[in-house]
Amino acid sequence: MGQLKSLIVAPGLWILIPAIAAAGGSGMFLSKSRKGRLVESKKKRMPFIAANGLLVLVPCAIVLNRWASAGSFDTAFYAVQAIELAAGAVNLTLMGLNVRDGLRVTGRLRHSSPSVTKTN
Ligand code: HEM
Repeated sequence: MGQLKSLIVAPGLWILIPAIAAAGGSGMFLSKSRKGRLVESKKKRMPFIAANGLLVLVPCAIVLNRWASAGSFDTAFYAVQAIELAAGAVNLTLMGLNVRDGLRVTGRLRHSSPSVTKTN
């Protein structure tokens, strides 16, 4: 448990934060030449992903790691862990939507329901 929590902070966060920043940054760069509703939705999601990550998930991970290595698994620990899990689920969902819309933009994922494109 303590071991896992410490791995999330280092090297976990040192890989995760640059990776998400790179995804957001390259997306912003590509959105200069790509326009449309899907790109706009992706752009709107990114500040939430970043804020949620930096203001909620990172502090949670650091605090939980400290408490876990100190062996203090009290009510506060589980409360913060619950916040982390909820915020993590939100960010995974938002990133999943960005993947979906990204694949739709490039046409790798079909836009409409299968029945519409079925020709027979
Ligand atoms: C967590 C953040 C993000 C993830 C995981 C993500 C994921 C993806 C994926 C999987 C693709 C499809 C690539 C392909 O089919 O070759 C894509 C494409 C794209 N994304 Fe994102 N994206 C993210 C953030 C953003 C942001 C912030 C923008 C800015 C508006 C953006 C704009 C685009 C554009 C314009 C494309 C089309 C690329 C092209 O023209 O080839 N993405 N993204």
